[in-house]
Amino acid sequence: CIDIGTLYKDTGHFTYDPGYGSTASTKSAITYIDGDQGVLLYRGYPIEQLAEKSNFLEVSYLLLNGELPNKAQFESFEHDITHHTMMHEAQKNFFQGFHHDAHPMAMLAAAVASLSAFYHDDLNVDDPADRKMAAIRLIAKMPTIAAACFRYSIGWPVRYPRNNLEYVTRFLHMMFEVPSEPLTLNPVAAKALDLLFILHADHEQNASTSTVRLVGSTGANPYASIAAGITALWGPAHGGANEAVLKQLEEIGTPDNVEKAVLRAKDKNDSFRLMGFGHRVYKNFDPRAKIIREMCHKVLAELGVNDPLLEVAMKLEEAALKDDYFVERKLYPNVDFYSGIIYKALGIPTEMFTVMFAIARTSGWIAHWIEQHETPGSRIGRPRQIYTGADVRDYTPTAKR
Ligand code: ACO
Repeated sequence: CIDIGTLYKDTGHFTYDPGYGSTASTKSAITYIDGDQGVLLYRGYPIEQLAEKSNFLEVSYLLLNGELPNKAQFESFEHDITHHTMMHEAQKNFFQGFHHDAHPMAMLAAAVASLSAFYHDDLNVDDPADRKMAAIRLIAKMPTIAAACFRYSIGWPVRYPRNNLEYVTRFLHMMFEVPSEPLTLNPVAAKALDLLFILHADHEQNASTSTVRLVGSTGANPYASIAAGITALWGPAHGGANEAVLKQLEEIGTPDNVEKAVLRAKDKNDSFRLMGFGHRVYKNFDPRAKIIREMCHKVLAELGVNDPLLEVAMKLEEAALKDDYFVERKLYPNVDFYSGIIYKALGIPTEMFTVMFAIARTSGWIAHWIEQHETPGSRIGRPRQIYTGADVRDYTPTAKR
């Protein structure tokens, strides 16, 4: 009979670290976070400076290449992106198979996975040129696919990308019927969305990026790897929080109900949490949340939107920040707390919020996938476990059970 205890002794030592709270799965030169100080750097550049001075495509180039592009490099990158925005015509048919009220994240994950079927044959993950082409295709096509998910869900025909527009404006144009939605051509809307894309572009080894790397470590193609990242992002504890925040703010309804919500969040017999609060790494203000909060006020003022949910959100933040429960646990508003109010002001439906996040995070995911493949000696990801099941036992025939 095998002694399971001896088996463990024979196979060496494990670190038992549920949720990987203190396990580094990789080295990476892309993004740095100091969770205690509330610092976030992309390739060494503070997020505050990139948010103020850069744009999403430039940030994507930075994440992928490690340096900010000069003028010629940026133009060449933008040209490449612009010339790969179209979806394959056959991929449009793919959407007809979805139920009309499918969640856009379900369609997005499936549609991105299906890119493997369109661009697989000529793809060698060990070839830097092929890896770069996959990155261009993904960053270019993601807004087109995302807009198609939205339009299919409301029964509108899919719109082709207008390549004389810039990245974010092109996306807004594909999403909405322009004559009835003049908002989409409003530069304030485009600037706000571009800023949100910059802030969501990367965040080192979060759940979805780690998923992309784990799938990538098996040698799977980049489209399959990114599709896996999309499904990981969908959960409410991760990117799905932006949708959950807005639903929760709507449920709270008025500032008078905030106190009740805070009490519920503190009750350990209730699974209710304040969505958009807390973070595994930040034990201080999420620097992205600070920028988004400021942007939220600006966008609403400039677009002339008076959303009572902003008042509820501010009251909730104020109440949580002076409550011992949240202070002791260092639970601050995170990136998702105010982003939904901006998306709503731009006319983006709630079910699309996490899709917005996925468009932006694609740059980070693919930068990590490339870094992983560029790193010599990368190994397949293969966590271990502490076995807690039955000891060795003999099979019993059905009649004797
Ligand atoms: N509301 C109430 N209590 C909370 C919250 C919250 N939002 N977040 C954490 N806590 C409490 C936990 O109950 C726990 O309390 P305890 O020590 O008394 O048991 C303590 O704070 C630590 O929480 P953990 O769940 O252990 O922290 P973890 O690092 O595992 O989780 C997470 C981080 C998932 C972000 C969590 O804070 C949460 O669920 N927040 C709400 C969802 C959310 O906003 N997610 C988006 C994160 S940002 C992103 O992914 C883009």
